[in-house]
Amino acid sequence: MKKILVTGGAGFIGSHVVRLFVNKYADCHIVNLDVLTYAGNLENLKDVEGKSNYSFVKGDITDEIFIDQLFEKESFDAVIHLAAESHVDRSIMDPLSFVKTNVLGTAVLLNAARKYWKETSNKLFYHVSTDEVYGSLGESGFFTETTPYDPHSPYSASKASSDHLVKAYYDTYGLPVVISNCSNNYGSHQFPEKLLPLMINNIVHSKPLPVYGKGDNVRDWLWVEDHARAIDVILHQGKLGETYNIGGFNEWKNLDIVHLLCRIMDKKLNRAAGESAKLITFVKDRPGHDKRYAIDATKLNKELGWKPSLQFEEGLDRTIDWYLANGEWIDSVTSGAYKEYYSNQYVSR
Ligand code: NAD
Ligand code: TYD
Repeated sequence: MKKILVTGGAGFIGSHVVRLFVNKYADCHIVNLDVLTYAGNLENLKDVEGKSNYSFVKGDITDEIFIDQLFEKESFDAVIHLAAESHVDRSIMDPLSFVKTNVLGTAVLLNAARKYWKETSNKLFYHVSTDEVYGSLGESGFFTETTPYDPHSPYSASKASSDHLVKAYYDTYGLPVVISNCSNNYGSHQFPEKLLPLMINNIVHSKPLPVYGKGDNVRDWLWVEDHARAIDVILHQGKLGETYNIGGFNEWKNLDIVHLLCRIMDKKLNRAAGESAKLITFVKDRPGHDKRYAIDATKLNKELGWKPSLQFEEGLDRTIDWYLANGEWIDSVTSGAYKEYYSNQYVSR
């Protein structure tokens, strides 16, 4: 592949995908298309900015005219589509912007690919999605690629809709597509509204640690760079029209993970054992809060040979160290328009 369009490349996962591809494939040009919402920051890509196989285009995936012109002008061999509104709590407060970006934005991109990819051989539309489309698990079992969709939040419903559109373009127009559904990611450059960076930042500043409900919801955590590697493997070896689940086989109850963070950070911040845990504050539960997510990534392992590379304890340690060393990044991304929401978010519950 000579030219790849990455949408949402200035966000958390997108920036790791862009970095991996720019550094690994010197003969491939990576075009990062991002509208730079509160969650998109070009600071995330400072280290690749000057590279000759990287360029940035500011634009909105819901802008049909702009996207059509981009596809007409550039001859993309592949699209890796990550641009989205991605935070469940925000989707509860503002569902329509999730429908607009995640559903309409995906449709606009699919339609441009259908119109401008005259020759579809050696092209690929790769749609990056979430395990949240499958709904919620009980105490046991895993999501597989054949688990029926059962989304509960406006976020997961919008991602489910976009997945269905991608499949419809494969079935109806023969557009070459592949989809992956991944579990919760963690690592550097994640906007500090999501569980792990929010807790790390609040521990640093001795602010309350808002645990929803009883903290007994379970998530399956994956190192973001392992997700980026999985995307690389699926882009190059995945079968057209297929879905691949990506997960860490790494389930944690929220309260356990918050306690683990507190223990590690007490040591790193030279605090007395148990000091950070005193900040834990149980707050009103999230409406429609899915109880448990757990991915069965056997298909990706058996068919394409991918597996997670990093133990959770090691990944968490690296993640905490990154946030401790990058306080300025946190200050910068949480300033401006997002500030009010960020500082009020658990007070309002
Ligand atoms: P993020 O919120 O950190 O980044 C999203 C990026 O998309 C931002 O850079 C933002 O500016 C950009 N964007 C938003 N609306 C846009 C628009 N209209 N036009 C162009 N760009 C726009 O999200 P993330 O956590 O990196 O997630 C990336 C993708 O991966 C999403 O599709 C998400 O559903 C999926 N995903 C995320 C996780 C996770 O744990 N974070 C897990 C599985 C799947
Ligand atoms: P989050 O990072 O928002 O990811 P998702 O909801 O997409 O899985 O939340 C992860 C889990 O942590 C989820 O069960 C909700 C919970 N949570 C809290 O308990 N407190 C918080 O402040 C946040 C942001 C999340």
